[in-house]
Amino acid sequence: MSTPPAPLDERLRVAIELARAAGRQLSSRFESVLTIETKSSDADLVTEADREAEAVILDGLRRAFPDDAILSEESGEVVAAAGPRWTIDPLDGTTNFAHRFPHFSVSIGLFDDEVGLLGVVHDPCRDETFFARQGAGAFLQAGAAPPRRLEVTQTKVLGKSLLATGFGYDRPRGANVEEFSRLVRRTRGIRRAGSAALDLAYVAAGRVDGFWELGLQPWDWAAGVVLVREAGGVVTAMDGAPWALRGPSVCACGPALHGPLRAALVEG
Ligand code: IPD
Ligand code: CA
Ligand code: CA
Repeated sequence: MSTPPAPLDERLRVAIELARAAGRQLSSRFESVLTIETKSSDADLVTEADREAEAVILDGLRRAFPDDAILSEESGEVVAAAGPRWTIDPLDGTTNFAHRFPHFSVSIGLFDDEVGLLGVVHDPCRDETFFARQGAGAFLQAGAAPPRRLEVTQTKVLGKSLLATGFGYDRPRGANVEEFSRLVRRTRGIRRAGSAALDLAYVAAGRVDGFWELGLQPWDWAAGVVLVREAGGVVTAMDGAPWALRGPSVCACGPALHGPLRAALVEG
């Protein structure tokens, strides 16, 4: 007799626990001398810390939910199965980590095809855990404080907005520079902090008004997209087409800013 699928709340609890455990593993390695290898380009890095954090999450998920499908950045399709799939970035912000720039995260999403069910993004440097469940809202637990509900901003005009973006590795160097240069003149500022998962979590938390990037992978944005949507935000591709896990780009922001941001992004 097969076991009935675990309820989403149980999966969320385990995902939060594992994101924090992976975060502790990363923190313990932050001052270590690491072996840095390159992947798709000289700027696309992986270290043993990425793999160790991934092992913490994969072991925990396989123990708790042995039948669940899992896709994880460094190991690929770890478990192929029907039904909802865990999508994991064990260290989002490897370049920061390798340079000891203290801004990186652990990202765990659960998607049923293109439907985002759960999202957890944990920042070990600040001990902040952002989490969301489809239909139940997005929350931030900072340290030992009780979780508080998150909402995107209601900013309407680009001139009053603070945005975030990133520059992917699998695009020619210089991709997104035109968009960046156009937007930096029309906004209060643009942050390139180096972790797409945290960029999206910051949109959900109202710390930035919007985020865009090209060429991310499913593990970079799965969890963050659930956070933004559950915090009342709008998520599409940069041209306004529906966002997809393997789609070309993302434009995520508060509802009032989506029109102006999207228009400015595609203008060129
Ligand atoms: C990267 C980060 C970065 C983004 C890159 C991603 P990684 O992920 O999210 O902010 O600009 O496109 O690939 O390689 O550190 O997991
Ligand atoms: Ca990533
Ligand atoms: Ca990564």
